[in-house]
Amino acid sequence: MTDSTADLYALAERYYVPVYRPRRIVLDHGRGSRVWDRDGVEYIDFGAGIAVNALGHAHPALLAALHEQAGKLWHTSNVFVSEPPLRLAQALVEASGFAERVFFCNSGAEANEAAIKLARRWASAQGRGPERRTILSFRGSFHGRTLAAVTATAQPKYHEGFEPLPPGFAYSDFNDLAAAKAAMADGSVCAVLVEPVQGEGGVTPATPGFLAGLRELCDRHDALLICDEIQCGMGRTGHLFASHGYGVEPDVVTLAKALGSGFPIGAMLVGARAADTLSFGVHGTTFGGNPLAAAVAGAALKELTSAALMENVSRQADAIRAGLAALHAEFDLFDDVRGAGLMIGAQLRPAHAGRAGDILDACIGQGLLLLQAGPDVLRFVPALNIGDDDIAEGLRRLRRALAGCLASG
Ligand SMILES: Cc1ncc(COP(=O)(O)O)c(C=O)c1O
Repeated sequence: MTDSTADLYALAERYYVPVYRPRRIVLDHGRGSRVWDRDGVEYIDFGAGIAVNALGHAHPALLAALHEQAGKLWHTSNVFVSEPPLRLAQALVEASGFAERVFFCNSGAEANEAAIKLARRWASAQGRGPERRTILSFRGSFHGRTLAAVTATAQPKYHEGFEPLPPGFAYSDFNDLAAAKAAMADGSVCAVLVEPVQGEGGVTPATPGFLAGLRELCDRHDALLICDEIQCGMGRTGHLFASHGYGVEPDVVTLAKALGSGFPIGAMLVGARAADTLSFGVHGTTFGGNPLAAAVAGAALKELTSAALMENVSRQADAIRAGLAALHAEFDLFDDVRGAGLMIGAQLRPAHAGRAGDILDACIGQGLLLLQAGPDVLRFVPALNIGDDDIAEGLRRLRRALAGCLASG
């Protein structure tokens, strides 16, 4: 190790397209919900790689699956069948309660891209012209960075400078059913794309009436209900699928992040209404459903469907909320603490507006990896199997970080 952390950071600044601004540490290895940097400093991980490492770091079942598959077959492309993605598709369909078929890809954006294409093609097969193939999404949403997914992402800051954006997208206010009803009244909408719990936009759950109402509107106006569960799915809300928790049956669900629990893989699950829409040759990917990724995701799914894990989600969510309530009592910090399961957002009071980034920096100094969702919201998305000690120690470190950060103004 001849390069210092500062040297490595300088290399990152020199060689990367500077679309990220990572914090000034270089992570080296992890185990469970603890991670160490290359200088040996330990961190509690409350961010899990942005809600990805749902089973923590170096989970033995995932390592075993990876090692076993790595010695057998890494990649075939989809011109051949291999067993890991096949078994994974079967398990996802069976666990979903609604899906008939699965399309695998490599990321969340690609899963949403597939869902948008599927919806357009589905409407086209019904003889609906392009003017009646609009995708409706919601302000505050985040659906990924490909051109179609970013257009569906109803936040102007992600659009700026990328115009012309593809046509056929419309936006409405989140949790405003009357507005969605008005947007769909003319029959132009062929699909509604919604996060049951908005993640990047501030950790905001859909109200039960909103999601159920969207289901009804989609039925009435012959549109598909697409739930983007890329961040909130795979057990994070305490249900394998966030839509299960709402008792709402979507037509399409998109997954990524925790699906591979750290190994890149995405998926689009399609229910009966649209399962036969995409036929031979109309969509595809080289890497999607790669045996190595699918083997890890298959092992992850077995863990993520355990009732004990879902109990841990609710237990640790209660612990984080209790910890945040105590911090609020001490520092008068939060306007709102919201979310579902282990997807929790703490909205800073106006007096601390814009300070989430400073707080995250202070957390690094105290050995805690935390995330924000915009400048005013602290986001807690730890591994679903995080233990009592890690939660307690993480909250102690957060308290020290807040005390230091708020004292320094
Ligand atoms: C809800 C949601 N959808 C889509 C995406 C895009 O996923 P990816 O970054 O894997 O393309 C994200 C990523 O944060 C997300 O949170």
